[in-house]
Amino acid sequence: MTVESVRPVTSETAQPREAPLAGGAVPGLGHGLKLVRDPLAFMAGLRDHGDVVRLKLGPKTVYAVTTPALTGALALSPDFKIDGPLWESLEGLLGKEGVATANGPTHRRQRRTIQPAFRLDAIPNYGPIMEEEAHALTERWQPGRTVECTSESFRVAVRIAARCLLRGEYMDERAERLSVDLATVFRGMYRRMVVPLGPLYRLPFPANRQFNRALADLHLLVDEIVAERRASGQRPDDLLTALLEAKDDNGDPIGEQEIHDQVVAILTPGSETVASTIMWLLQVLAEHPEHAEKVRTEVETVTGGRPVAFEHVRSLTHTNNVVVEAMRLRPAVWILTRRAVTETSLGGYRIPAGADIVYSPYAIQRDTRSYDRHLDFDPDRWLPERAKEVPKHAMSPFSTGNRKCPSDHFSMTQLTLITAAISAKYRFEQVAGSNDATRVGITLRPHDLLLKPVEW
Ligand code: HEM
Repeated sequence: MTVESVRPVTSETAQPREAPLAGGAVPGLGHGLKLVRDPLAFMAGLRDHGDVVRLKLGPKTVYAVTTPALTGALALSPDFKIDGPLWESLEGLLGKEGVATANGPTHRRQRRTIQPAFRLDAIPNYGPIMEEEAHALTERWQPGRTVECTSESFRVAVRIAARCLLRGEYMDERAERLSVDLATVFRGMYRRMVVPLGPLYRLPFPANRQFNRALADLHLLVDEIVAERRASGQRPDDLLTALLEAKDDNGDPIGEQEIHDQVVAILTPGSETVASTIMWLLQVLAEHPEHAEKVRTEVETVTGGRPVAFEHVRSLTHTNNVVVEAMRLRPAVWILTRRAVTETSLGGYRIPAGADIVYSPYAIQRDTRSYDRHLDFDPDRWLPERAKEVPKHAMSPFSTGNRKCPSDHFSMTQLTLITAAISAKYRFEQVAGSNDATRVGITLRPHDLLLKPVEW
């Protein structure tokens, strides 16, 4: 008997095992049909099959990670990078040189360039714009007049991102174009990902023409914004200036294409995610009048009846918890993917080099093993003494590790401010024709939420 053979089998010494195959695979198609038919239910059911499970998507094997701890391990491990079909389709349409799709040293350098604009101490500079935009909503909306939540949410999200990060007079007029373009592009991109009909998307059907027009206009807009800033000779302290002055690893200015792709890579995730979250917040306020009332009371207490301002955000703890709970149940980013750069293991299961790994913040954040009364909308679960009970990585809507969203503070501030401003003035009711069922796309959002604001 050798010394080796009497060593206890621990997670370090054990040979990684083959992950179990998730149940319900159909010969030839694997799990593809289930994933396409009801992706949320499918992802939410996977933990019953194992901590890491294999999925068959046609001929391909994909690994799904189902526990909070392993999603954290995945996000924090250097053995995985951003890649895979989701990212490839995004790159094809939005550009290859932006921070959201880069890896390795380029990604690290790009994060260093953009990070200062999102740091906690940079957020107060954005306060006046966020306040103005939040109050503009309450002024534009009229009691009893139907609010089309999709376009309104997109508009405010794009305006805030564009005005704060790419400051300039031109923003007011262009933010409108940006929001229309981005809404069309995201719709088309999701269709191209889930129904990859390749050449059919090049045929001159009206939907394809509309998509191509919006995508071309988005790129044109970004070129116009960059060109105008350069022509103005101004260098305000904002993200666009940081990008225009960024240097590569040799100390040379970064190329035009990278500047362009960086602006696209920041504006696109920045608007769809925030817009979807605003739609869910509006849906929550309409569905739970008791929470709408509680938010209103908090805002009144904190502001003393004055218009809510950036300086109040820190004290609006219940409003913040409403935002967090809405993000728990309806995370804008509901699916994330990585690719293994080397043969490795997760939770004792073998992951081959080059394998695609997928996990769903939606499934993780609704799991009954992590949350008591997991489907209840309960903002008080984020009170400090209860929040301690939530397992690590079970609530990670902005992800973690080196790909963590740079905009967590920026987003939480604007979402809290908007929720407070609209709740101070209105409660909401859904009107006939409204459809708040979940629409699964690149993000999750209600199909077509139509609300009537009612003055308190
Ligand atoms: C990345 C969520 C708002 C810019 C991410 C990731 C998540 C996320 C989960 C990580 C993706 C991954 O791990 O693969 C959200 C949510 C938001 C939000 C839930 C709002 C509710 C924003 C905003 C901006 C932004 C407002 C910019 C204005 C980015 C960028 C990345 C990113 C540039 C890529 C980071 C990298 O790869 O290093 N976001 N995001 N996000 N987000 Fe956000």
